[in-house]
Amino acid sequence: MKVLLIGSGGREHALAWKLAASPLLDRLYAAPGNPGIAQEAEIIDLKVADHAAVVAFCRANKIDLVVVGPEAPLVAGLADDLDAARIRVFGPKRAAAQLEGSKSFTKQLCAAHNIPTARFAEFRDADAARKHVREHGAPIVLKADGLHAGKGVIVAMTMDEALAGIDQVFAMGPEAPVVVEEFLEGEEASFFCLVDGETVAPLASAQDHKRVFDGDQGPNTGGMGAYSPAPVMTPALEARALEEIVQPTARALAAAGTPYRGVLYAGLILTREGPKLIEYNVRFGDPECQVLMPRLKDDLLTLILATCDGTLDQVSVRWHDTHAITVVLAARGYPGAYESGSEIRGLERAGEIEGVTIFHAGTKRAGDGLVAAGGRVLNVTATGRTLQEAQARAYQAVDRIDWPEGFCRRDIGWRALSK
Ligand code: AMP
Ligand code: GLY
Repeated sequence: MKVLLIGSGGREHALAWKLAASPLLDRLYAAPGNPGIAQEAEIIDLKVADHAAVVAFCRANKIDLVVVGPEAPLVAGLADDLDAARIRVFGPKRAAAQLEGSKSFTKQLCAAHNIPTARFAEFRDADAARKHVREHGAPIVLKADGLHAGKGVIVAMTMDEALAGIDQVFAMGPEAPVVVEEFLEGEEASFFCLVDGETVAPLASAQDHKRVFDGDQGPNTGGMGAYSPAPVMTPALEARALEEIVQPTARALAAAGTPYRGVLYAGLILTREGPKLIEYNVRFGDPECQVLMPRLKDDLLTLILATCDGTLDQVSVRWHDTHAITVVLAARGYPGAYESGSEIRGLERAGEIEGVTIFHAGTKRAGDGLVAAGGRVLNVTATGRTLQEAQARAYQAVDRIDWPEGFCRRDIGWRALSK
């Protein structure tokens, strides 16, 4: 089977690494790719935003399956264009990708189908939003519509922050309504499922670390590290999330004639009343994917094909009895301004530690060497029989990497380890 993988981050390196291990795989291509993905796939020069070019490449090279890593091409309708050309694609079409592309769409769907989420109101007018915020008080949460790479949400702890935040969120997407919602208290967890339209196959849970510094301090990032499983997500809570949140969502989209096909990532807050949905993502998490793939016992390509072909009811998903952790090495300054081009050494020695795999995110080849070329640069990933063991291995590997211009959090996994 010939597969084309779309994307260039640590998530896509983890997907490429797992796809490359499949007995069904004959050839793996990737675009835009990165130096880590290049170890597993043939990197091709293809503009992903040019859907006609992607279709033409697939036809010319007899591609059997396109796996889309990030959300932007899905929200832009790449799956629609591939499907129209009868090319198999893993990832939802534009209509279903609104689950991530539009906060307002998801809140309306939750309201119509009784799916537990924060109480909310929508505003097209900043003055009306201000009035609502004054009436409800802080803490309160403001969300701009559309994709904002995780920066479209303001969790305002005070009234001053909330009032200042209103101008900010209205400036981000003036054409779409702003969602103002109730602040929920509880631990967050990421819950991943495969959805083939009808059947929902739960995968696993993970926990991200969104803040840039130790102790969950500093600004939000795309994610500084993750681990799986998340012990806070007990089997009972997983069953509730499946029954009360993910299954009704899949049924609602199928009934609307816009069935969801792909991986669905539910961002949950585990409140005292049970799991509530904070957001959906229409893709694997980054860096959560990097801790799911090393734990997945079954063949990823088989699971993806079952998702695309509507036969998820016939497969089981099995996991290794291990814990996995990933530590993000980022360029100094991230998530603000940072410099690219500094040299990274020592990856080979770091990768020799038992259970360790290093996934590339923002790296670039420069001659014989490797240099930083992004904010999040490497994902040092380790498995172990316990989370402690996985964590120790990951940081041992981090310490073998020679990159003075980089930094990482030193406390990835703390929530689970403190239990
Ligand atoms: P989102 O982009 O929707 O995932 O929001 C980013 C972050 O804001 C989440 O990971 C939460 O930490 C926080 N957040 C979003 N919505 C709420 C809410 N209703 N209550 C408390 N925190 C929230
Ligand atoms: N790690 C958070 C995300 O992928 O959205």
